[in-house]
Amino acid sequence: MRRAVLAAFLLLSLAGVLRSAPPATNSAVAEAPRPASKPDGGEAAAGKPLFEQFCAACHGISGAGMAPLAPPLTNSNWLRGPEGRLIRIVLNGLEGPIQVNGTNYAPPAIMPEMASLAALDDEQIASILSFLRRDWGRGAGPVSAAQVARIRSETANRETPWTERELSQIK
Ligand code: HEC
Repeated sequence: MRRAVLAAFLLLSLAGVLRSAPPATNSAVAEAPRPASKPDGGEAAAGKPLFEQFCAACHGISGAGMAPLAPPLTNSNWLRGPEGRLIRIVLNGLEGPIQVNGTNYAPPAIMPEMASLAALDDEQIASILSFLRRDWGRGAGPVSAAQVARIRSETANRETPWTERELSQIK
């Protein structure tokens, strides 16, 4: 009798192990293509497809800008500048005119404003900005999801797009 109970117990726990095994394998596989913990290589690499999906329609796939949709991002002085400015631009948008690399962009040459992209999550915004800074911002350092989260909460009450003048005061 005791032996039968023991055998049943062993069988059940073996079944449990077998049942729990496939999900563990699956989640390991699902996580494999997300090397997001490496702030530079990983996050910036994840940012390229996100940039193509959410920014390239206006800024161009090569980042060169497209009149009258958006100014250039390639080598833009804004990409090398303080991360806090870039994070704010993505969260609340930007109301021109704006100077990029010494050229003044104003309507009708460029749209009057860039809309908010706050629907992107902190990690997506960090990845996009890390990619842009690394590849088109002359190797400027990565942006972390924690930085985005902090600025998102600091600016939670803001509803209007930023202006160049306001952003220039952010260090
Ligand atoms: C609907 C078009 C549009 C989309 C989509 C868009 N932008 Fe913009 N962006 C603009 C415009 C227009 C300006 C200039 C604002 C102005 O002059 O009012 C701008 C300006 C900027 C600037 C500062 C100026 C410069 O060229 O360096 C940055 C940085 C920027 N955008 C980043 C992004 C990022 C990152 C994304 C995607 C997450 C994005 N934009 C998506 C239209 C867009």
